[in-house]
Amino acid sequence: MKILKTIEELQEIRKIQKNKTIGFVPTMGALHDGHISLIKQARIENEIVIVSIFVNPTQFLPGEDLDAYPRRDEADKKICEMCKVDYIFMPLSTTMYSEEEVLIKAPNNSYVLEGKTRPGHFDGVLQIVLKLFNLVQPTKAYFGKKDAQQLTLIQQMVKNLFLPIEIVPCEIVREKDGLALSSRNVYLNEEQRKEALFLSKSLYLAASLVGKGERSSSILKTKIYDVMKNLDVEYVAIVDRNFNEIEEIQLKNSIILVVARFDNTRLLDNIWL
Ligand code: PAJ
Repeated sequence: MKILKTIEELQEIRKIQKNKTIGFVPTMGALHDGHISLIKQARIENEIVIVSIFVNPTQFLPGEDLDAYPRRDEADKKICEMCKVDYIFMPLSTTMYSEEEVLIKAPNNSYVLEGKTRPGHFDGVLQIVLKLFNLVQPTKAYFGKKDAQQLTLIQQMVKNLFLPIEIVPCEIVREKDGLALSSRNVYLNEEQRKEALFLSKSLYLAASLVGKGERSSSILKTKIYDVMKNLDVEYVAIVDRNFNEIEEIQLKNSIILVVARFDNTRLLDNIWL
């Protein structure tokens, strides 16, 4: 496994490997089993696997956890080595950004849910992902359904900008007790860690009600809020795959999303129905 830090190193590798299929997993590091599942899938489906580790400043809003975001470069390198990654791309901020930039703007209809709470966040995500795509030129790129809106917007960007890349959506990886893995789970204290379980519990309950025939979004939302009654819930949303709120669940076209706050930590979870 090689660590690449500069654009030139990456471009050189890309030239050498030009006839190979390239699987790409963009991350912000602090790798956990969620990231690992993406890397493993990339390993199975491609000749070369490239992982990027870059805590992207433009997707953090002022006052968010950019400085506190967990950085574990050495552990991350070991994990990638164990997963038989071929190359890690770990650039500096100054390598990825110049002072004045041509900007990518997420579509107006993305300013709902995460885009509403974190205005500009998805602009930053798309900006960095497009840069990384241009450098890596992957055959397939892997994204988790955990960040449902991010995944959808990246699929839209690929379509709108005619990028010849296949986006592979990957299932959410959870702890045994149901908590969705996230690099931000390390911010939780013991008590919050227990309370955080009510996110996945509420979604499981909703899924089982849907399984029994319930289709009404308002009834499902009431049940979800009820399970999370002791949490600081930011939103519960039931949307179609284009992120329009829907009144009735449509099977194979619905996502239920929940977000709750634990002091300064926001935890997201969702289930695709
Ligand atoms: P990061 O939060 O590090 O996540 C990298 C990828 O791992 C994303 O596609 C995310 O959806 C996926 N992921 C995280 N937790 C997961 C889980 N529990 N199960 C399955 N997949 C999971 O998302 C980002 O970084 C950044 O926004 C990035 C796309 C790298 C752009 O900076």
